[in-house]
Amino acid sequence: MTIAVNTASRLELEGINLPSDLLNQTIETLTAHESIRGFLPKPLSEGVLEAIITAARSAPTSSNLQAYSIIIVKDEQRKDKLATLSGNQNFIREAPVFLLFCADIYRLKYVTARQGHKFAAETLEMFLLAAVDASLALQNALVAAESLGLVSCPVGSIRNNPKVVAEELTLPKGVFVVSGLAIGFEREGMRRGVKPRLPEQVTVHKETYSTKVLDEKLAEYDQTMISRRTYDGRRVSLAGEPEKKGVEYGWCEHTARRCTRPETIAVSASLRMNLKQVLEELGFSLQ
Ligand SMILES: Cc1cc2nc3c(=O)[nH]c(=O)nc-3n(C[C@H](O)[C@H](O)[C@H](O)COP(=O)(O)O)c2cc1C
Repeated sequence: MTIAVNTASRLELEGINLPSDLLNQTIETLTAHESIRGFLPKPLSEGVLEAIITAARSAPTSSNLQAYSIIIVKDEQRKDKLATLSGNQNFIREAPVFLLFCADIYRLKYVTARQGHKFAAETLEMFLLAAVDASLALQNALVAAESLGLVSCPVGSIRNNPKVVAEELTLPKGVFVVSGLAIGFEREGMRRGVKPRLPEQVTVHKETYSTKVLDEKLAEYDQTMISRRTYDGRRVSLAGEPEKKGVEYGWCEHTARRCTRPETIAVSASLRMNLKQVLEELGFSLQ
């Protein structure tokens, strides 16, 4: 059975009627976001890439430390290697550009030493700060790309093999790839429509955190995802447990099962289990 692709933005999907003066191009771009995993073999012009990179570099950054770096990869062989290292996701090979967003404290350590001081920010907080900086830059790049009519998909699986990736990209100590972003022109047939999110009452709280309507709204979301046939052919089996009859397989059951088996959240999660040790080897101290 084929599923009709709903091309509605999140506003239409959720029946949110914004007054027309609030419906600007930025809101339209943001609410139409969909991760797309298939690209045409067509390069981006340098101007387009420059616009995307400038947007990424314009993201806010903690204390203006700019504790991130972006690596632009276009080389076919390198993309192929990185795709293989990232759970063999073929869309990375297809994308004309693969951007790597790195947490970067190398530069901060370098500047501190060069200025004749002792770097004392060997903390978990520094890693988190740098990872947040990198993520904000990624999101700006994604929005810029989509605003220009391109499509993209973030790639967290780049963290499957951090040490090999670090070697491939000649990362100095203190640089860690947080996520990739494949960008390009959309290949036809890849859209499934804007993916429904949990109801607003679940993820957005007014003044203080509330779980009052959690169960009711989770049940609602389950029905939304079931009717969209989101998990058809993607069910996670329970390790060593027989299938329980009568359990509805929606977001709750899918997510719960994934949480019992982390390798279904992150392909090759077994490799990511030792992240603390790997980060320390790559130059981050996590005190
Ligand atoms: C940090 C991050 C890492 C991601 N990594 C991957 C990935 O490795 N492979 C993939 O196919 N999608 C990846 N995604 C895309 C998510 O699966 C997607 O955003 C989510 O299912 C919601 O769908 P949507 O973006 O179309 O709304 C990633 C998203 C984020 C934010």
